[in-house]
Amino acid sequence: MRQAMYSLRKRVMVTGGAGFLGSHLCDRLLADGHEVLCVDNLFTGTKQNVEHLRDHPHFEFLRHDVTFPLYVEVDEIYNLACPASPIHYQHDPVQTTKTSVHGAINMLGLAKRLGCKILQASTSEVYGDPSINPQTEDYWGNVNPIGIRSCYDEGKRCAETLFFDYHRQHQLPIKVARIFNTYGPRMHPADGRVVSNFIMQALQDEPITIYGDGSQTRSFCYVDDLISGLIALMDSPEGVTGPVNLGNPVDFTMVELAQKVIELTGSASTLANADLPADDPKQRKPNIGRARDLLGWEPKVPLEEGLKMTIGHFRGMLDAQRG
Ligand SMILES: NC(=O)c1ccc[n+]([C@@H]2O[C@H](COP(=O)([O-])OP(=O)(O)OC[C@H]3O[C@@H](n4cnc5c(N)ncnc54)[C@H](O)[C@@H]3O)[C@@H](O)[C@H]2O)c1
Repeated sequence: MRQAMYSLRKRVMVTGGAGFLGSHLCDRLLADGHEVLCVDNLFTGTKQNVEHLRDHPHFEFLRHDVTFPLYVEVDEIYNLACPASPIHYQHDPVQTTKTSVHGAINMLGLAKRLGCKILQASTSEVYGDPSINPQTEDYWGNVNPIGIRSCYDEGKRCAETLFFDYHRQHQLPIKVARIFNTYGPRMHPADGRVVSNFIMQALQDEPITIYGDGSQTRSFCYVDDLISGLIALMDSPEGVTGPVNLGNPVDFTMVELAQKVIELTGSASTLANADLPADDPKQRKPNIGRARDLLGWEPKVPLEEGLKMTIGHFRGMLDAQRG
């Protein structure tokens, strides 16, 4: 281990560190006193997301695509690099699979060389369109291997396989988090994800797009809670590899979410129905028993509070654009 015996400060690499979750993770790790190496190719992330960290003495940004090998010295790796919204990951599906699979191989190879812990940001999408609800980690999933979401879902599933094979074959210390829908400030405003969509539409008094009849349910975890979960998992004892579901088990229908957003923004928007996209899961809700037992973690921020903070962020962005 590179970490000096006399110091608790670690040098931590965050791939995808200029993205939504990654930038919040960089913030938290720096606040906890660590050095952060933020690695990102800026495909969906932006320099603005980490602009406030630019002059921080313990922060470093490296523009790099994880599908290529990387040789750096770090004590821990959080592997978050991967476009996460359907619009972005379907834009160049081959690159999406490469990012998950080649990215995992490269980052696992680096962790193996350094003998350091590595955490994978996996996803509830590994469960596909689940036939059980809520989803537990021992459910193997129901994924279409050839559909338009497969580049993401199967890429992430293969990355999990690689993590566990490096663990079994090379005794690499791994952590796998299965992240469920997370929202908050710095989400991409045009990524088509439901929370950002609804808020942007509501703030501009545009009709709110409800796919299908809006009875499909989703659970929403506020970003601060999610970051606490990722760090708790990274810091958990070596025997804890995961996969561990991280998300908020309280679920809402799309119509309920739209109504809450309209209420909190004071918007004049109405609801507009559109066709359901292909392979859209009808239900998604984590069972977080494992995270509670192993990490003592559960989300704390209620939807209304998290939405208010997210609305504040998007409102500020729109105000800045309007000058
Ligand atoms: N936000 C969620 O609700 C959610 C849910 C499940 C899983 N996840 C996972 O968490 C991670 C972060 O998601 P996010 O919501 O912050 O998305 P995001 O798109 O904001 O962040 C992903 C980051 O990875 C970078 N990136 C993409 N391809 C890369 C490559 N080849 N090399 C280097 N960097 C690359 C992007 O530029 C971006 O900064 C992803 O792996 C995603 O699959 C997120």
